[in-house]
Amino acid sequence: MIEFTLNGRQVRTEAEADTPLLWVIRDEFDLKGTKYGCGVAMCGACTVHIDGNAYRSCSYMVGQVAGKSVTTIEALDNHPLQQAWIEEQVPQCGYCQSGQIMQAATLLEANPNPSEQDIVNHMSTNYCRCMAYVRIKKAIQRAATESQAGVNIFDPSAPNQEA
Ligand code: FES
Ligand code: FES
Repeated sequence: MIEFTLNGRQVRTEAEADTPLLWVIRDEFDLKGTKYGCGVAMCGACTVHIDGNAYRSCSYMVGQVAGKSVTTIEALDNHPLQQAWIEEQVPQCGYCQSGQIMQAATLLEANPNPSEQDIVNHMSTNYCRCMAYVRIKKAIQRAATESQAGVNIFDPSAPNQEA
């Protein structure tokens, strides 16, 4: 029995410890946003966050996440990157995109004002067979700019800030 946190919820699995995390996420917890691409940690389609860092879930065994916190694209609700992705019309076939966004999210978390080279370096291990790289870069730049401009997304559950 392996216990971990998945998108903020405590979960447990009977999967063998050497089962790729990707299969557990997709097949047991039915979170299909994380994609299988190469299966050998090369393409980035399967990127998730583990304790806040980006990892390749195809090559990360579920036994390694015991006691850790895993976040998938499904929990990235209303992230500035998602709006920027829409505005820049980034996806083509879409297959690589959740991995791209999860990878980009860790960049903006660590560096809210990345240079173009920072973006290129951070995203260089995520492949897009449709060659959407220019739009991916523009969307990350837009999300960074808009986040810094203080564009807030309305959260109806947030307490009223007005006196
Ligand atoms: S499917 Fe995991 S890196 Fe390609
Ligand atoms: S949008 Fe098709 S692989 Fe990236």
